[in-house]
Amino acid sequence: MPDVTIRLTVNGRPRTATVPARTSLADLLRDHLHLTGTHLGCEQGVCGACTVRLDELPVRACLTLAAACDGSEVVTVEGLDDPDADRLRACFSREGGLQCGFCTPGMLVSAHDLVRRRTVLDRDELCLALAGNVCRCTGYLGIVRAVGAAIAEGIEAEA
Ligand code: FES
Ligand code: FES
Repeated sequence: MPDVTIRLTVNGRPRTATVPARTSLADLLRDHLHLTGTHLGCEQGVCGACTVRLDELPVRACLTLAAACDGSEVVTVEGLDDPDADRLRACFSREGGLQCGFCTPGMLVSAHDLVRRRTVLDRDELCLALAGNVCRCTGYLGIVRAVGAAIAEGIEAEA
């Protein structure tokens, strides 16, 4: 299979890589651009550890072909750099939203998408919205509390 050259913006920075055509976005980020904050768990679209933002929407980087991202904008956990991300990190820390941290990059990218929507979600809605991200450690309660608190703080900050 031939190599392909991909040009995309990652965390606000233009990047170019020439990779085998079957390379996933996760492997492009980790192995070629050395952004290892994006974790790989199941590599089959189940665990959510590899979640990144692609053109404004969270996606599974393990199931996304890098070649399909040519010209796109990608944000990884390393690029979550705004007041919402600061709130999220503080809330995860305060509410016990992480233990081993393996799920945390994908969880933060998914949660950041929720926080920036500025929509209040009840506990069931938060559980549903985060159902695509698996955590083996926390039992989810701290994560749900943290995301709910970060949404509330984001709305309050703009009031
Ligand atoms: S590594 Fe991509 S969903 Fe599990
Ligand atoms: S904190 Fe360990 S998997 Fe979520």
